[in-house]
Amino acid sequence: MHMLQRDASPDEPEPQEIADLPPWLVAMVEFVVAETTPTLLPHVPEITLRLARESVPLWDKIERNRALRGGPPYWGFAWAAGLALARHVIDHPRLVAGRRVLDLASGSGLIAIAAAKSGAGHVIANDVDPLAVVAISLNADLNGVVVEASGADLLPPDSGFDPAAVDVVLVGDVFYDHDLAGRAVAFLARCRAAGCRVLIGDPGRADLPIARLTRISDQSVPVAQLPECGGRGR
Ligand SMILES: C[S@@+](CC[C@H](N)C(=O)[O-])C[C@H]1O[C@@H](n2cnc3c(N)ncnc32)[C@H](O)[C@@H]1O
Repeated sequence: MHMLQRDASPDEPEPQEIADLPPWLVAMVEFVVAETTPTLLPHVPEITLRLARESVPLWDKIERNRALRGGPPYWGFAWAAGLALARHVIDHPRLVAGRRVLDLASGSGLIAIAAAKSGAGHVIANDVDPLAVVAISLNADLNGVVVEASGADLLPPDSGFDPAAVDVVLVGDVFYDHDLAGRAVAFLARCRAAGCRVLIGDPGRADLPIARLTRISDQSVPVAQLPECGGRGR
């Protein structure tokens, strides 16, 4: 697990300078910075993200460099479902204002940043890809918000994560893989049982548990040249 924690509390130590970070982490930060460009988003112009220019060359570089510890570079793109949910959160800030928010499968950190900009009390952006954890931290910084970037896998029932520690769970495009979808559904059911509000953005994946959901928003999101996700078209 890797965790880059950013906390606004005055009691916490100052954020580390890059020179204080371990070399493996410096390499990851430098990689994400080199491979991305700050980009104004379609549909959510309130947020700028460091986005990749092309998916395949980036994925090749990650596969060839095991020291980067990364998976497919989902963090380098703004997914339609994430853009839709971020838009919804910014347009309805009372959903998150003053609340403890978890953005599960955060990727670039887009939805977490939308929640932080909308006045959430505390935001955890969680993604199991260590390069996503780096991208989330860089993107939060770029947008002038504070989020706690976490790389722990929260989905197993014995992960130690207590759903009662958050009020709202936001999820953008996590049902692209059958096995992951099953584990995410079980996790989100535990969050609901603990009293959390759960909001899901999804482009219509086959494994979206549609019968258990209530549609609250239908958005047409302009996205250009997104890579395929989990082997399926978007
Ligand atoms: C299609 S991306 C969506 C990213 C972001 N939510 C958005 O909408 O822009 C899916 C993300 O799920 C993450 N992921 C996969 N398995 C996960 C798990 N067990 N826990 C947390 N994140 C996971 C991947 O690393 C990837 O960043």
